[in-house]
Amino acid sequence: MDDGIKVGTTGDIPEGEGRTIPKQLTGTDDDIAVLHDTDGTFWALNDTCTHADASLAEGWVENGCVECPIHSSKFDLKTGKVTGFPATKDAVCHRVEVRGGDIWLFPNETPTS
Ligand code: FES
Repeated sequence: MDDGIKVGTTGDIPEGEGRTIPKQLTGTDDDIAVLHDTDGTFWALNDTCTHADASLAEGWVENGCVECPIHSSKFDLKTGKVTGFPATKDAVCHRVEVRGGDIWLFPNETPTS
């Protein structure tokens, strides 16, 4: 699985925000949220919050975590681990690479930190 999917450019997603990449494009079970952290890095998690049915791409991204817009659960961007309740199930991570200003998503590949 060495073919990534180009999902946009770094200028498309402001720092602290995310974008939903539909599962029809990624071939995954869930949509994928590509998230732009406040340190300038990009990360990807399954878009649907593990607590209920919120889009993590619509949450707040800050200091290595994304906060769900509905009940404020937090997930670590690098590992998907829950860092704030009420969610108790970790999120699934996917690898993202930035090359020459383009964002490439590698669905179902584990991120290299
Ligand atoms: S839907 Fe995300 S914390 Fe409840």
